[in-house]
Amino acid sequence: MASRRGMAQAEIGSRRANSVYETIRSGIKERKWLPGGKLPSVREMGERMEVHRLTVLKAYRQLAEEGIIEAKYKSGYYVKSHSMASSESLHAGDWDYKARSLYVNRSRLSDIHRQQVDYQMSEALIDPNLLPNAYLSNYVKQVFDLYPRVLSTYSTVLGDPELREELACFFLAKHGISVHPDELLITTGSQQAIDLVSRALAKPGDKALIERPTYSPAIDAFHQQGITLLPVEIAPEGYDLDEVERFMKTERPRLFYMNPTYQNPTGYTVPAAQRKRLVELAEKYQCLLVEDDVYHDIYFGSPPPPPLFYYDTEGYVLYIRSFSKYVAPGLRISVLAARPALMEAIAPVKALSDNGTPLLNQKIFQHYFFSTRLQEHVVKLRTALELRKTAMESQLADTGWHWASPEGGLNLWLRLPRDIPVDELLRRALSRSIAFVPGSICDPLGGMNDRMRLSYSYLNEGKLAEGVHRLIAIADEIRVEHRFL
Ligand SMILES: Cc1ncc(COP(=O)(O)O)c(C=O)c1O
Repeated sequence: MASRRGMAQAEIGSRRANSVYETIRSGIKERKWLPGGKLPSVREMGERMEVHRLTVLKAYRQLAEEGIIEAKYKSGYYVKSHSMASSESLHAGDWDYKARSLYVNRSRLSDIHRQQVDYQMSEALIDPNLLPNAYLSNYVKQVFDLYPRVLSTYSTVLGDPELREELACFFLAKHGISVHPDELLITTGSQQAIDLVSRALAKPGDKALIERPTYSPAIDAFHQQGITLLPVEIAPEGYDLDEVERFMKTERPRLFYMNPTYQNPTGYTVPAAQRKRLVELAEKYQCLLVEDDVYHDIYFGSPPPPPLFYYDTEGYVLYIRSFSKYVAPGLRISVLAARPALMEAIAPVKALSDNGTPLLNQKIFQHYFFSTRLQEHVVKLRTALELRKTAMESQLADTGWHWASPEGGLNLWLRLPRDIPVDELLRRALSRSIAFVPGSICDPLGGMNDRMRLSYSYLNEGKLAEGVHRLIAIADEIRVEHRFL
């Protein structure tokens, strides 16, 4: 029995070392640590990844053996110059591969989403059955009648003037925020807004604060620009503002990318008092706040606090508001609000990117979004999503897994017991047609290996209950195997 336990522990140890090795290796490939740069000490890396020092040491040694990193006497471990490029090209050899490998794709999210599964709990997308598709198609016809030339012309780079005008009125009426239509840029989803900001407002070598955990494609967007990310923990009660201030003071980050309302993946909401204080800190230390507000309208009780943008009088907040989740995801319409000095920097990047979001999509959105039908629909949608959240939570109630019940948004963020390795759970779940997002994907440090995100927005209550039931059964199976190894 003792030797069995020994073998089991050895196996767990080697699995951990493997995952630490993979995380560091992909970090180097994505230029999180640059060629010639020093890696965190073994102790520091162990703390970040929540593993023992020896596990990190094992991974470092393996990377050194492969010529990817090197140990320098009494100094630590360093990334070798061009180490990954040369080892990758051994397998690749063709130009096309090398060109593609320049792009960061750390998140692996799209790989998970691409899998066809019966129990889809990885995508933070609303079930198409909850969106009034037939009604939307009437609007499409109406738009063609109203604007017969809509497909024969470009939009302006900032976006359709009528739509921006209506959105400016919407921000004033709904949030008391006064914004000029020329301070609004229509983007092709919030994803594009994040990308534009990362390209227009920071340069390689700049630092940026980012929540830990966070929306993982944002990690990729900033890494792609060679920006160093400094993670700030987000908790149910918000951030540790002393930590934020310390970072702003000592590291002088260019910006702080945040998703403070029903955050993806945690569902946490930063309280109003913190929002106000963050804006003061931003002014004091001249750090831009990039507020990504995708889930603002998806709340279950009372509405969330006002956006940080509401408190901003000096132009330090860039406000990204997406409607794509609940209006019509396929239209890909979001808006980025920024004061003129920042907009001047962003608009040319948007022009280079696509010369303006398609006019047809903007027009359909405009007519649909401001209809009473849509506003009534959102009220029903909130109830439907809350029922789904409750169905998922009831199914999870006896597992001993931990989460803070979100008051809005589309996801549950769970912490699993240590004896259920999330990577292993995902591998087995995918093979049985169940998908979810492992926590490590959402962590800028690549840790959080005991966390996962389950989205409750895509499946109906029955399917959710069944999917979660099956997932728990797989977790139990893993536990039992580990116990008897
Ligand atoms: C926090 C966050 N930002 C941005 C996006 C992208 O949204 P969009 O569909 O508007 O590009 C998402 C989508 O999941 C998200 O969760």
